[in-house]
Amino acid sequence: MLGEGILERGLGDMGQAGKRSTEQPLRLGVIGVGVMGSNHARVLAELPGVEFVGVADPDRRQASFVAQALGCSAVDDFSTLLDRGLDAVTIAAPTHLHREIALACIARAIHVLVEKPIASSADEGRDIVGAARRAGVTLMVGHVERFNPAVAAIKDALRGEDILSIAITRVGPFPPRMSNVGVVIDLAVHDIDLIRWFTDSEIIEVQPQLSSAIAEREDIALLQFRTASGVLAHINTNWITPFKARTVHVATRKKYVLGDLLTRQVTECFGFQPDGSYSMRHLSVGHGEPLRAELAAFVAAIRSGSSPAVTGEEGVASLEIAMRCLRRAEIEALPQRIGPRRVVG
Ligand SMILES: NC(=O)c1ccc[n+]([C@@H]2O[C@H](COP(=O)([O-])OP(=O)(O)OC[C@H]3O[C@@H](n4cnc5c(N)ncnc54)[C@H](O)[C@@H]3O)[C@@H](O)[C@H]2O)c1
Repeated sequence: MLGEGILERGLGDMGQAGKRSTEQPLRLGVIGVGVMGSNHARVLAELPGVEFVGVADPDRRQASFVAQALGCSAVDDFSTLLDRGLDAVTIAAPTHLHREIALACIARAIHVLVEKPIASSADEGRDIVGAARRAGVTLMVGHVERFNPAVAAIKDALRGEDILSIAITRVGPFPPRMSNVGVVIDLAVHDIDLIRWFTDSEIIEVQPQLSSAIAEREDIALLQFRTASGVLAHINTNWITPFKARTVHVATRKKYVLGDLLTRQVTECFGFQPDGSYSMRHLSVGHGEPLRAELAAFVAAIRSGSSPAVTGEEGVASLEIAMRCLRRAEIEALPQRIGPRRVVG
């Protein structure tokens, strides 16, 4: 097996998860080191307070490429990695494997950060949440956009404000590798999470418009929402725009906040006057890498035993809304698919 022999540390540490003192580094590994997981591994290998044990991926070439670059060990079967005695893992394997892998980790009392979406379905997500709760391990979901400093600046600007509406655009060209999900699960789920987080309220109404221009799955989505607190929100997302754009506009009773999540410019308009004039200021935005902040928050939650920044329940709630959009759009498209009703007689 790839990496056997390199993995020499911690064979006597099995079953020790959750028993480490705050002085000891946490032993972490990454399961699935494709596009996202290799970034997890890069960040974790340098994160203070972490002993980065290794990576697991059945793609041996990819696993050893990542392991060699970072000077850690590689295995092709995730349970072999768990045998090394880990305190925590991040799971960045394909979404349809999240449930199986997360449950296996939790069964060994290993803390888990699972990439977004939490699972393939809300029921599978709930299985992970229930198991983590019963085992008393930390479960966090990788909604990394919350850790984008521009998003954090928007959240700060909205503190104490009466939010009226939110408009989010997340568009770009077709992804180089086709996955088996469309833009709602791949992209809009980020923004569903942001809408729920900005408003501190649940989405209670969804009005989706979906279309498949090039792909088999939906590649254009216009999603409208109403939250329990009465906020109207919409997401415009697609894979048909030749350039990437990610913007957030929020109207409150007293302010209009505009954020560009790529350039990380956040501006607020305020002091509206009857003559139409208003003031404008750029807000200060941090420079940190979102993934680093996310993984540091995961480690901090494990150490403190406090609720992680993005809980499993929140991951399930956002996935559930995304699924509702897909189901609703499917139902509404039904008459067109069947074709016009034949008039007999
Ligand atoms: N937070 C974000 O912004 C973001 C961005 C991209 C992807 N993701 C999520 O990350 C996850 C992975 O996406 P990706 O784009 O990196 O996919 P990817 O295909 O690039 O990587 C997945 C990796 O998992 C490996 N794998 C397959 N079966 C495995 C198993 N049994 N055990 C361990 N590894 C296994 C594959 O060999 C591959 O290397 C998905 O859930 C996706 O939704 C999140």
